[in-house]
Amino acid sequence: MKPFRIGVIGTGSISEYHLNAYASNPRSIIVAICDVNETRAKQVAAKYGADKSYSDYRELLADPDIDAVSICTWNNTHASIGIAALEAGKHVLVEKPMARTVEEALAMEQAVRKSGKLLQVGFVRRYDPNVQMLRRFADEGEFGELYYAKASTIRRLGNPGGWFADVDRSGGGPLIDIGVHVIDLCWYLMGRPKAKTVSANTYSKLGNRANIEHLSFYKAADYDASKNTVEDLANALIRFENGASLLVDVSYTLHAKQDEGYVKLYGDKGGFEIDPTVSIVTEKHNTILNVQPQTDSAAGFSGAPAFQGEIDHFIDCIAGGASQISPVEDGIEITKILSAIYESAAKGEEIRI
Ligand SMILES: NC(=O)c1ccc[n+]([C@@H]2O[C@H](COP(=O)([O-])OP(=O)(O)OC[C@H]3O[C@@H](n4cnc5c(N)ncnc54)[C@H](O)[C@@H]3O)[C@@H](O)[C@H]2O)c1
Repeated sequence: MKPFRIGVIGTGSISEYHLNAYASNPRSIIVAICDVNETRAKQVAAKYGADKSYSDYRELLADPDIDAVSICTWNNTHASIGIAALEAGKHVLVEKPMARTVEEALAMEQAVRKSGKLLQVGFVRRYDPNVQMLRRFADEGEFGELYYAKASTIRRLGNPGGWFADVDRSGGGPLIDIGVHVIDLCWYLMGRPKAKTVSANTYSKLGNRANIEHLSFYKAADYDASKNTVEDLANALIRFENGASLLVDVSYTLHAKQDEGYVKLYGDKGGFEIDPTVSIVTEKHNTILNVQPQTDSAAGFSGAPAFQGEIDHFIDCIAGGASQISPVEDGIEITKILSAIYESAAKGEEIRI
């Protein structure tokens, strides 16, 4: 079988994970690279042996020789580039968050329906081998009914600056950037229950704290601390139609002693933790057991294998036969939850979805 011909649009920090994974997949070949920063596009094309580099994504999409694209650009361009790619007959893997608003997400879904092409949302944490392992336990009923989850990603210092800190381009701060990962993870593992209400708060108290020295953190490719219009902290209680609930908080900065992250889910037969490390809690013969699954990594997220899983699955779906792990419909549901969180925080009241 001829390898699928891939274009990667956006060559900043995250694109390398996509590029390395495509390069390692025997059924894909990287043929084109695009970035508005022409020099960056050319350098990346040379590094990965791509024949063509562009500074305008429309030129890349006009190439009939490209089967599929990864979109690794700023959040405000995901919908426009995604829709144009689908209309040009390309399959699309779009980075998270799929879109800034529900309207954008619905327009992307419409383009999927019209084009008949695939759109995979880059909910990369779903593709971590440990998460797929836990998903199997959940599907087999090991935890019973998962009725409560709590997730937290606290960065004491970690506003990536540049477009991430500009609400017009990002759609929001830590909630839409890193909260999306853990909210999605819990929702996916709880069996995708329909969200009913959201009660949330956001705070912009500390700014980006660009004054802090001696601590490094994730930065946009074009780091710039001169503008910051996003929240520092968000928290939310999400209630689902089946009675389950999810409690979450996330920050770009907070006067916390250290960075902290946890993802914990509780069912009526057992529970499990993903972050910071994977473990299972159960009960047998009147005894509580904390079980340590023996897998390649104890961590809930390992970047390279998770991105490899994401890209391999994208290629499997394009080739046909695989059922999508993170389809456009899931992107819409998560976008609705994120939008409701921002709406609830802005209005200071509970929102019915
Ligand atoms: N899955 C994850 O864990 C993860 C982690 C980080 C970022 N992301 C997502 O990946 C995307 C990119 O993030 P990043 O950290 O790589 O940002 P970045 O700023 O490092 O890189 C973005 C790149 O996109 C380019 N770009 C912007 N608009 C473009 C356009 N219209 N056409 C072509 N190129 C364009 C920029 O020049 C830049 O090189 C974001 O949506 C972000 O949320 C995902």
